[in-house]
Amino acid sequence: MSSEPRRVENQLTDKGYVPVYTTAVVDQPWDSYTPEDHATWATLFRRQREVLKGRACNEFIENQTRFRMTPDQIPRFEELNAVLDKATGWQLIGVEGLLPELTFFEHLANRRFPVTWWIRRPDQIDYIAEPDMFHDLFGHVPLLLNPVFADYMAAYGRGGVKAHGISAEALVNLTRLYWYTVEFGLIRQDDGLRIYGSGIVSSKGESIHCLESASPNRIGFDLKRIMRTRYRIDTFQKTYFVIDSFEQLMDATRPDFVPIYAELASKESLPAGSVQDDDKVYQRGSGEGWATDADA
Ligand code: PHE
Ligand code: CO
Repeated sequence: MSSEPRRVENQLTDKGYVPVYTTAVVDQPWDSYTPEDHATWATLFRRQREVLKGRACNEFIENQTRFRMTPDQIPRFEELNAVLDKATGWQLIGVEGLLPELTFFEHLANRRFPVTWWIRRPDQIDYIAEPDMFHDLFGHVPLLLNPVFADYMAAYGRGGVKAHGISAEALVNLTRLYWYTVEFGLIRQDDGLRIYGSGIVSSKGESIHCLESASPNRIGFDLKRIMRTRYRIDTFQKTYFVIDSFEQLMDATRPDFVPIYAELASKESLPAGSVQDDDKVYQRGSGEGWATDADA
């Protein structure tokens, strides 16, 4: 490991206590990556490219290829930025890790995507609780080349700044939207369901589980339904939501959320694994192996 990130405090969020790092933007310390860091990148990169064939959506695979990331070495943010800036005006900025919510939203609103500069240790190859460079770069960055998705992410940032000024409940509603789309979303293609969520594409186990297991629910995208739905942070999701296209996502989230937050304020949240009468059900999960403790 090149060096330890600078953790500053624990912050209570709807996900429980999470470590929050300095809000500083840092230059990627590329020269300090060790051979072990590069090897971790190589292992994860090769493995996921293979797992995602026929599983990730075409836009993800094609856009990832456009960056010319290779297993040979950890990519340089600078080189990725040249491609990204020309395509959609986004840029990557190096950070120590998770940011306070408002800082994160402000970056997104200004088309800056924060990327954790450090990579996980070899013993964390299969699972790491917090986002590292592999999750951020391999998982999030490819779709920033898609113009519609790129606009969605910036709109989300603006929506976040707005929700932050409304209430803690509004923020919870909005965070669930991010979770069930950006992090754990599925998309329907002509040839079946595919993955676009970053939390899935950066995990071998969940890439297979989300599409092939009988255990989780797979349900059609519905904005308010998602905003009411709790989620898991420490196990595979009990429910995945399926969009038809990125345009659908953009169109559904374009309206002012203020009246939606107000309407949802009087409604109960839904358990992560629940199925509702008016859900468009692709698969009703068997629930096998589900944790029985509380959802976040
Ligand atoms: N339309 C949302 C609002 O008024 C903003 C938003 C757009 C939020 C896209 C999420 C995603 O708050
Ligand atoms: Co993420």
